[in-house]
Amino acid sequence: MNELDAITAAAKQAFAQAATPAELENVKAQFLGKSGRMTELMKGLAALSVEEKKSRGAAINLAKQAIEAALTDRRQALADAELQAQLQLEALDVSLPGRQRPGGGLHPVSLTLERIEGIFGSMGFEVADGPEIETDWFNFTALNTPENHPARSMHDTFYVEGGHVLRTHTSPMQIRHAVQHVKRHRALIDAGGAMPEIRVIAPGRTYRVDSDATHSPMFHQCEGLWIGENVSFKDLKVVFTDFCRTFFESSDLVLRFRPSFFPFTEPSAEIDIQFQNGPLAGRWLEVAGSGQVHPNVVRNMGLDPEKYIGFAFGMGPDRLTMLRYGVNDLRLFFDGDIRFLSQFQ
Ligand code: PHE
Repeated sequence: MNELDAITAAAKQAFAQAATPAELENVKAQFLGKSGRMTELMKGLAALSVEEKKSRGAAINLAKQAIEAALTDRRQALADAELQAQLQLEALDVSLPGRQRPGGGLHPVSLTLERIEGIFGSMGFEVADGPEIETDWFNFTALNTPENHPARSMHDTFYVEGGHVLRTHTSPMQIRHAVQHVKRHRALIDAGGAMPEIRVIAPGRTYRVDSDATHSPMFHQCEGLWIGENVSFKDLKVVFTDFCRTFFESSDLVLRFRPSFFPFTEPSAEIDIQFQNGPLAGRWLEVAGSGQVHPNVVRNMGLDPEKYIGFAFGMGPDRLTMLRYGVNDLRLFFDGDIRFLSQFQ
């Protein structure tokens, strides 16, 4: 092998061994740099005759071209490798399935409230909403509940600052809604005209100091109120029976109005239902308190109890939800466990 071939071979080998572009540029200097081996050979030409210069120069140039070509190839190869490595590093696996965002849904108790609103809506009841932090007047006094009534004890009620309470029931909405209604129709009422009937339900959150499998400190109630000039207990029976049969999709459902006591109704009754079929068949299940609105309460609504009369009821949507779906622990509704809640979607 002549000297030029040897240098060319050495250069190719050195280039091949350079692992990075920087290393390659260092190695290049050894062959093609100012004091590189090829430059030294060119310098040697000076001592030669014109003839020798021609042939030797051409040979050196050929070798130099071969080395430069090898260098270019190696540069390209290293750049390709670098790009490849970077692509690898930044690789996105576009075949991965997208992140699923599971569809949400309504809480089972919200489903019940929607159902209640739909059924009573079809019977001409409006839906009213009111505050959960309530004054003593609306929660107790206006509802004919005297100072010494056990419902007022610290034991049963969450008192908050300023003598306010977390409403213990939705019954304060009877007064709030009726007062607004009466205000709107005051002139008509005073003129002895026929006031449009008050027909409303008021669903919402209520609070009592109570906690076990069937009681939660926060729970739901739905109030119902129908006041007119000739609204009787019979109407309560018809409306509530219709409601229960529709709600539970059970036309042979039986209702029982069991005499009871509430300060704001007289007479008063607990409403029990009995299924004729299914796992709960034959048992009496309490679903609501009810009664004919007490004259003192009618007065607090701004109406004359000699002229206006009606009924009210308060039911437990949580209880209705438990019965409808066969849930035996009320706390499940408020734990926020997605495994439980997703069953109702
Ligand atoms: N407010 C009563 C309760 O919470 C229920 C009720 C409402 C009773 C309306 C009669 C009339 O127990």
